[in-house]
Amino acid sequence: MSAGKLLHGHSRHSDGGGTIDYPRGYDVLAEIGFLGRRRGVFTRLAALSGAEQGHQIVDVGCGTGYLTRMLAPIVGREGRVTGLDPSPAMIGHARRRSPDNCSYQVGEGQAMPFPDASFDIAVSSFAVHHMPVSARGTAVREMFRVLRPGGRLLIAEFRPPANPLAARLAAVLAGPAMRPTMPELLADLVPGAGFRVESTGTVGPVLYYVTAVRPLDAPS
Ligand SMILES: C[S@@+](CC[C@H](N)C(=O)[O-])C[C@H]1O[C@@H](n2cnc3c(N)ncnc32)[C@H](O)[C@@H]1O
Repeated sequence: MSAGKLLHGHSRHSDGGGTIDYPRGYDVLAEIGFLGRRRGVFTRLAALSGAEQGHQIVDVGCGTGYLTRMLAPIVGREGRVTGLDPSPAMIGHARRRSPDNCSYQVGEGQAMPFPDASFDIAVSSFAVHHMPVSARGTAVREMFRVLRPGGRLLIAEFRPPANPLAARLAAVLAGPAMRPTMPELLADLVPGAGFRVESTGTVGPVLYYVTAVRPLDAPS
């Protein structure tokens, strides 16, 4: 069994996915997995999101709120970062560690409890592969729905490192659930939801990202 598997909680779905319910263990494993570079990697993700002062941001599958908290000083007191995760344990942990301009809700990416066009930016790091396969398209369409026209999307996902030893370590830490979903995101999920893909790339040895925009003239 992988170390990552030990942290997994329940899944209500028959086609994969599942929550992580051990926030402290998750943060320890994430620090190890990023080989001490977690802060640098997420600082880059925060910049890639296009976040600015006053923005309303949703962090889908926020986990312990690591990215949520990194975005908080960027949006400032006029802005807000809202973390969403189906694990009450992760949400409770994130809530206790976050500044006043962060808020959190228990919920799933495929059924977001937010009104249409209520955010400037949607971010999601390492969470799409945790969703059941059949729910991923719905979740990305939900990200489209809750973004205002012109709003921006950033999805970051795991990619196995090229170094075989590092790839082995990643497999032990994360387990088979962490399979690459880049082609799935680019060919299907993101454009299929109505987004215009703006950029793709890698950050550090284990992460790729997609940024996209909800076009101003897209039908809702
Ligand atoms: C690997 S963690 C990533 C957490 C955080 N975004 C980060 O980068 O550290 C994946 C998270 O996705 C959550 N998750 C599982 N199913 C989900 C769903 N259907 N919708 C949203 N998040 C989900 C898990 O509970 C877990 O907290």
